[in-house]
Amino acid sequence: MKGLRFQAGATVPAFSLCLLLAAYALAADAPRKPATVKTPLGLLPLVWPADNPYSPEKVELGRYLYFDPRLSADGSVSCASCHSPKYAFTDGAPVSTGIRGQKGGRSAPTVINRAYSLAQFWDGRAPTLEAQALGPMVNPIEMGNGDHFSVVDRLKGIAGYREMFQKAFGSEEITIQKAGMAIATFERTVLSGNSAYDRYKAGQKNAMTASQIRGMGVFFDKAKCDQCHEGINFTTNMYANIGVGTDKPEPDVGRFAVTKDPKDWGAFKTPTLRDIDRTAPYMHDGSLKTLEEVVDIYDKGGVKNRNLEAKMKPLHLTDQDKKDLVAFLKALNGEGWQQIKAPERFPQ
Ligand code: HEC
Ligand code: HEC
Repeated sequence: MKGLRFQAGATVPAFSLCLLLAAYALAADAPRKPATVKTPLGLLPLVWPADNPYSPEKVELGRYLYFDPRLSADGSVSCASCHSPKYAFTDGAPVSTGIRGQKGGRSAPTVINRAYSLAQFWDGRAPTLEAQALGPMVNPIEMGNGDHFSVVDRLKGIAGYREMFQKAFGSEEITIQKAGMAIATFERTVLSGNSAYDRYKAGQKNAMTASQIRGMGVFFDKAKCDQCHEGINFTTNMYANIGVGTDKPEPDVGRFAVTKDPKDWGAFKTPTLRDIDRTAPYMHDGSLKTLEEVVDIYDKGGVKNRNLEAKMKPLHLTDQDKKDLVAFLKALNGEGWQQIKAPERFPQ
């Protein structure tokens, strides 16, 4: 994988950095392909699904498909229209705009660190990234294709793609499942780590400011945000009702639509907080513009409703606590995705 190089933590002494670079150079000369992608500081090694293992060719095909507007019915919308590197793989808008300017009801989540997730969508209705990738293509307000056959037919007519499928899958035959597998493989390389917080944890004590260090205390101890936002990707991957949007006339039922279990009414998947400073506006409905607004909602104990999560309690944060908490959230800005660019031209 050219272009996927991550900075080692700055605490690594210079001589071992040289060793590391020498090892890289040797590895680059070795004939075998890398079996995976190196993850930035703070993340776990990637685990690839047995039925869709990593290959650089698949990542490359996936990247082309991800950025190619010809996946939509009228050639106007690509995955990147709503999950753009420009906005840390979101669209920077409260809700997304799809084909023919149609607006959806939910905010586009980031594609960053999806490799570490269990289920996809705010309500978790897609079990895998492979399955998820096929949904938008036939969603009438996203990419607007009548069915998947029309997408496959369009791709089959592009010689350059036939060649890329051959390289990625060992056969020119194009299927929608293979397209989903390639896109998912690409998405698993969209990573964020090596944030100020990761470097601080790795021993570089000046990586975070005094305010961010205090904010870390608010996050883990006083506000216990890690009851839900825990681990390397700052999420339990579980669903919770924190109440945002329940005060609308027709609230989004969230996870309830999938399970039909009343305890899931108004519950949404706990999102990652990595690069959160770069993915405003916030929440499933994009209703909160700033991190300050988010922190205020939590300070009040969420938005009261008939199914509010029991963990949501007023926090009694001071103004200083709030400022520090926001500063800490900004320490989660990372790297590992900025090198990913749209292809300069698409296969013909
Ligand atoms: C018109 C805008 C739009 C387009 C085009 C679009 N998405 Fe999305 N995407 C969304 C929205 C909105 C959601 C959240 C929907 C929900 O949860 O019900 C979403 C959810 C996702 C998720 C789940 C993320 C998570 O945290 O659960 C992934 C992954 C994703 N999209 C990838 C893609 C891929 C791959 C494509 C292209 C094949 C694509 N999207 C096309 C708007 C879009
Ligand atoms: C009970 C579980 C829970 C706790 C505790 C919790 N969160 Fe969340 N958080 C969620 C869920 C669920 C969402 C998504 C809700 C929605 O979209 O309506 C969310 C969303 C967010 C978002 C917006 C993410 C995005 O991409 O839009 C931020 C920021 C956030 N939480 C920060 C915090 C902070 C800071 C704390 C501690 C003060 C905290 N959370 C405590 C479950 C929790």
